Amino acid sequence: MKGKLESLLNNNNLPRHIVIIMDGNGRWARRKELDRISGHREGMRSVKSVVKAAKELGIKAVTLYAFSAQNWRRPKDEVDALMELLKQYLIKEANTLVEKGIKLNAIGRLWELPPDVYQVLIETTEKTVDCREMTLTLALSYGGREEIVDAIKKIISSDISIEELNEENFSKFLYTADLLEPDLLIRTSGEMRLSNFLLWQLAYTEIYVTKTLWPDFRKRHLIKAILNYQNRERRFGLTSDQIRKRKVQ
Ligand code: IPE
Ligand code: IPE
Ligand code: MG
Repeated sequence: MKGKLESLLNNNNLPRHIVIIMDGNGRWARRKELDRISGHREGMRSVKSVVKAAKELGIKAVTLYAFSAQNWRRPKDEVDALMELLKQYLIKEANTLVEKGIKLNAIGRLWELPPDVYQVLIETTEKTVDCREMTLTLALSYGGREEIVDAIKKIISSDISIEELNEENFSKFLYTADLLEPDLLIRTSGEMRLSNFLLWQLAYTEIYVTKTLWPDFRKRHLIKAILNYQNRERRFGLTSDQIRKRKVQ
């Protein structure tokens, strides 16, 4: 049965692709006088819960910023713990992903991941390759600037000419070539910044920032973010009148 909040959603105007900057694990742990790693462990529960919720709500794609290219500079024990948690998540969740029809995808400099984590990631991706209900993309060792540089390197070694290059075919050289444009960006824990996430792709994405820390984020918070999104008018540079006319057509 649908909850009260969920019944307020307009199913004709759901964001097709939601991207999330999962932030605040450290602060959550500090408030509870726990170590940062406990915060990350709790954050994994939120990942499971939000992936399940997004699928139930009929969202077609979810991308989670799980580890940035800059996060390698954190203390070694924290990086090691994050890699281990990621590996455990992939091992434990593989069957659930298949059962729910969720295709796993990953973006970032994946070759920088520890070999055992990379191996499990590839295996899990392969297991879910035929899933069609939803795509779950994990951004790992990911940086938006790094992605643009990597795209330019690919372009230089491709046979595309300068005259041919445009916004549309440029985006095919990004890690996200096969993904829909993000409709909604959620950032938890209140920070008003992109932190090097999807710099190219977020050009016209609606942004929602909540003070809720990632380990506390659950289905009801996701629904609230979507309800907020549904009250926006996406204009893409046009006037409000133009947009309204388009909707009646
Ligand atoms: C997000 O939580 C998880 C990762 C960046 C891997 P943080 O670890 O950044 O938590 P805060 O920002 O210190 O609270
Ligand atoms: C962004 O969070 C990266 C992830 C959520 C994986 P950070 O905590 O690393 O970002 P900053 O340092 O606050 O900008
Ligand atoms: Mg943070």
